[in-house]
Amino acid sequence: MQFMAPNQLEENLAMDLTYSKGQVLSSMNSKAHNLASKAFIENITKNLGDPSLFSGTAKVEKQVIRILGHLFDLPTSGTGALLTGGSEANITALWAIRNKRRGKFRLTDPLEIVAPESVHISFDKAADLLGLKLVKVPITPKYQINLKLAEDAITKNTIAIIGVAGTTAFGTIDPLIDLNTLCLDHQFDMHIDAAFGGLVFPFLPQSKETHFLSFDLKAVASITVDIHKMGHVPIPGGGLLWRNTSYPKAIQFTLPYLAGMPKQSTITGTRSGASTIAFLSLWNEIGFEGYQEIVNSCVKNTLFLAKELEKRGLIIPIEPSINILGAKTPREFPLDVPKLHKKLWQKGWTTSIVNGCLRFVIMPPTRKSKLEELLLLLDQLIDQQ
Ligand SMILES: Cc1ncc(COP(=O)(O)O)c(C=O)c1O
Repeated sequence: MQFMAPNQLEENLAMDLTYSKGQVLSSMNSKAHNLASKAFIENITKNLGDPSLFSGTAKVEKQVIRILGHLFDLPTSGTGALLTGGSEANITALWAIRNKRRGKFRLTDPLEIVAPESVHISFDKAADLLGLKLVKVPITPKYQINLKLAEDAITKNTIAIIGVAGTTAFGTIDPLIDLNTLCLDHQFDMHIDAAFGGLVFPFLPQSKETHFLSFDLKAVASITVDIHKMGHVPIPGGGLLWRNTSYPKAIQFTLPYLAGMPKQSTITGTRSGASTIAFLSLWNEIGFEGYQEIVNSCVKNTLFLAKELEKRGLIIPIEPSINILGAKTPREFPLDVPKLHKKLWQKGWTTSIVNGCLRFVIMPPTRKSKLEELLLLLDQLIDQQ
């Protein structure tokens, strides 16, 4: 039985937009680096879930954890896992924290996680799956957690606070040093979601001094960092780093049917190693300096776009600190945000609307010349009104 004629398959796939033109500005994923795509395809059958069969790939995962760990001062006692993306990493992080901490509470206590309103939806999913109460704290006009309200939200059942390093909406980073102090004062864990920002902030000048995205903050139990966003490898590729092995041990299961009966601390059993290998291949080729160059070029282009939009009368409510930008239209502007969004999509430029702003994620294929094309189009759209 044939469900779809071969030509229909081609037709359907032709409907997809492609990243390479540099006109997708709505996604935190992008075209992978060519070197990474090549390594990915060559290693498509590697399975991190079966380390007896794929002992070499298991070693690659350890090396990738060391590289990512180095960016965040992961202690030598630290460990981690390469997963399918940021959502799985955040869910796994809360799963480990819940299991590690719940012994101290009565079974009837609803365990609570305090998080800024800006957190990614994966924390709502995690709370639902794990039976946790997610307490969302209002954010400041700078789109960071309100520290006073975070402290007010803490109860005797709080087991962790979430800090975000690179919010989905505007790329902002929470005051991690202050959150760390709060966690230490109350003796609970902190998880940092750096799914996007984890491979951005470490490459910016003065990053450590400014942001302190680091395990040197003693309350930090775990950090999410995706390799399929700013790591420039094909999907799926997420990463989770743990301060020490007590966290993965709290969610460990043995697989009796596989050779060597491996222990797993991951949601999935079969786990592709292709993007992990792709990351190591790319890192070996371009290294810290290569990532630094890509990141700084994306951020420079984002600041260029922000300035040019402002010149045209748009409002940038939050100055971008990384390569994510939100822009509002003032009341007297010829086009409002939904209209502008629609017209740009019609012309093949994808943006999204977040918190009333037109949101642009500037990834490597979107070079300055491409942004100049976008600005030309914007000028035409304004003139036509
Ligand atoms: C801050 C943050 N965390 C987590 C995620 C979820 O990542 P994924 O889509 O890879 O599951 C995203 C996705 O955009 C994100 O921006």
